[in-house]
Amino acid sequence: MMNGKKVLFSGMQATGNLTLGNYLGALKNWVTLNEEYECFYSVVDMHSITVRQDPATLRKRARKLLTIYIAAGLDPEKNCIYYQSHVSGHAELMWILNCFTYMGELNRMTQFKDKAAKHADNINAGLFTYPVLMAADILLYQTDVVPVGIDQMQHLEITRDIAERFNNLYGDVFTIPEAYVGKVGAKIMSLQDPTKKMSKSDENPNASIYLMDDADTVARKCRRAVTDSEGVILYRDEQPGVKNLLSIYCACTGKQPEDAVREFDGQGYGALKDAVAETVNAVLQPLQAEVARIEQDKAWLDSIIKNNAEKAQYFANKTLRKVQKKVGFPERPR
Ligand code: TYM
Repeated sequence: MMNGKKVLFSGMQATGNLTLGNYLGALKNWVTLNEEYECFYSVVDMHSITVRQDPATLRKRARKLLTIYIAAGLDPEKNCIYYQSHVSGHAELMWILNCFTYMGELNRMTQFKDKAAKHADNINAGLFTYPVLMAADILLYQTDVVPVGIDQMQHLEITRDIAERFNNLYGDVFTIPEAYVGKVGAKIMSLQDPTKKMSKSDENPNASIYLMDDADTVARKCRRAVTDSEGVILYRDEQPGVKNLLSIYCACTGKQPEDAVREFDGQGYGALKDAVAETVNAVLQPLQAEVARIEQDKAWLDSIIKNNAEKAQYFANKTLRKVQKKVGFPERPR
């Protein structure tokens, strides 16, 4: 509990351009939950360097991502929106948690296996211990709930395991966090291969809708989306392309899949694709306008960045001091 509320933590990487999957699977739920919780939303730039980045591009994308959080409807005066690299507690707690995490556990992480295969020339230790930094992010704030897409569930589980292991040794130090996964939109699939998730790092630009895509681009990508030859609009696993389009439609409109299926009864895939493009644009256009507006106010944004990093560090230190004491580090003279 913090200020009488439960705590929420979540983060996104500033790697690549944000996709509709990031928005519908995570960011949208952050906005829904933000009133109810004391919230920390981090731009996890330290995670980003587990694969090589161009420094100037990373810096630019990190700032854009922070702006997108605000533009999506998170008030940075109420929610702690900050860069992970500005709060030293993340790395400090990570070191300690590294010593309570097993190689075998990390070896089982599917994201590590995928990324190691993709970046075979750079399988660095950071890529391997990535989930420990994520556990540090979450546990540092005594987090109760972590809204994420389905692809992050395994990392949430290892976070809980590390926290429980630590608590078993030292008493109730960490709150055990729960994942929050939305009913629709928790796994938005690629428009070109609906058996794969929509991803920032997909090489085919037609596979993903980016949050900064203009209306025509969105319409074109939707029209080109891979479907099937069944010719009926049903929400079922046998039709992954159509199911994905319906998921996007429902996540954008708040409708239930069965109602959407009724709405499109007897219509062709073209009509579905046009409707999806229209609802996606109804979400993205105001978001983009808001990003442009916020970007103008550089001084305000800088003050937000500074104040929130200080706030985050204050709460991070509370947990960190407790943990340092538990493991036996000498007390700091006052
Ligand atoms: P990242 O940056 O890959 O993704 C950010 C969020 O978007 C969700 N997501 C999706 N949801 C639905 N459909 C998709 N196709 C899709 N693609 C991505 C992700 O599940 C995530 O919620 N390791 C994390 C970042 C992180 C973090 C944390 C998250 C670092 N520390 C602590 C929560 C708590 C990541 O790489 O997410």
